[in-house]
Amino acid sequence: MVYTVPTLPTTRQPGCPFDPPKDLIEAREHGPISRLPFADGHQGWLITGYDLVRSVLADQRFSSRRELMRHHPTIDYGEIEVPPAPPGEFLLMDEPQHSRYRKPLVGKFTVRRMRQLTERVEQVTAEHLDAMEKAGPTADLVTAFAKPIPAVIICELLGVPYEDRGSFQDNIDKFLGGEVGDEELFAAYTATQQYLADLVAAKRADPTDDVLSDLTDSDLTDEELRGMALILLSAGFDTTANMLALGTFALLRNPEQLAALRADPTLTDNAVEELLRYLSVAKQFQRVALEDVELGGQTIKAGTTVILSLNTANRDPERFTDPHVLDLRRQNGGHLAFSHGIHQCLGQQLARVELRVALPALINRFPTLRLAVPAEEVALRPETADIYGVKSLPVTWEV
Ligand code: HEM
Repeated sequence: MVYTVPTLPTTRQPGCPFDPPKDLIEAREHGPISRLPFADGHQGWLITGYDLVRSVLADQRFSSRRELMRHHPTIDYGEIEVPPAPPGEFLLMDEPQHSRYRKPLVGKFTVRRMRQLTERVEQVTAEHLDAMEKAGPTADLVTAFAKPIPAVIICELLGVPYEDRGSFQDNIDKFLGGEVGDEELFAAYTATQQYLADLVAAKRADPTDDVLSDLTDSDLTDEELRGMALILLSAGFDTTANMLALGTFALLRNPEQLAALRADPTLTDNAVEELLRYLSVAKQFQRVALEDVELGGQTIKAGTTVILSLNTANRDPERFTDPHVLDLRRQNGGHLAFSHGIHQCLGQQLARVELRVALPALINRFPTLRLAVPAEEVALRPETADIYGVKSLPVTWEV
């Protein structure tokens, strides 16, 4: 008999901030696919096994279209008509619309292009570490380091003035942080859309040397450009920031791994991949079956919602030996932290450059870095957040 999970979202176990919620791990122990009841009576599926998650991500019989999804399993969608994603917001679209927006961006986020940014990431990192050191010997690592570094870089790349961040930073936090009600969330989203609409108009009138200005030289409409900018800006702001802060927290809680990374800089690339796997901050996504599909011995009926748990897939013992251990020397890569298939993270090379530069720079600048509060007191984002992480990370060091 197929296992049925208690409704999502679940919570993390006290003292285990890096591990997926217990209910999800238990579901995977019962098998890679479980039934998942939604608040409105819809009977969905939860996929927790690595192979099945990967195969659904690669299968275009499963849709990402927003209007088909039930974003919050606790909401009764019986009465809500979800509109399609606005033009340009291609994360929530299928082919061929998705490609219309992703294609013009691919060449701008290649490995080579992102490696060329390394020097700028090093500079921005050094400036923030200098400021942190000067203001020390304590800091909130989230505000001093983890948030601003990726924020400066994505703003420069897109051509969004960093000085304007007051107009969108808090709003992006609101719609990805999982802590505000629907009304406030919608207001935050609309305000960000308006800010970006004005910016697109400004770029069209007076193009500068950046991704958004480049895109104005195409058949994309202003509305489409606004949507693309919104996806890029919100993804670029929040994801790497949470990896940097949660990654530092995980290293501080695994001192022998931290020491290994400090001692051996050649470990960096591998360490970043392992932290991505172990933490899986973009923890789960949805798809909806467009037709009946046989999966893991079950029939997924057309129209059924499937939740793909990337964090449990990345902890699947059938794919990763000792999956709950952070092992920076782990060799078997292939994690799903950036997803897979047509929606695989467009910004992954940028995220890698940022993590490979900023994490070693931090731990080398502060050889005595430690938490300034007991680990249990570190404030975690709730499971309702789209991107998992810490809200703040008080740290200190010896001077
Ligand atoms: C460590 C940092 C990051 C993680 C863990 C991450 C994770 C992900 C994941 C899991 C998806 C796929 C969602 C799905 O399958 O439905 C995704 C998509 C995407 N990410 Fe990232 N991301 C990161 C950083 C970035 C950055 C820095 C950018 C900046 C450009 C970015 C831009 C995007 C975009 C545009 C998409 C949509 C791709 C599409 O639908 O074709 N991401 N990301």
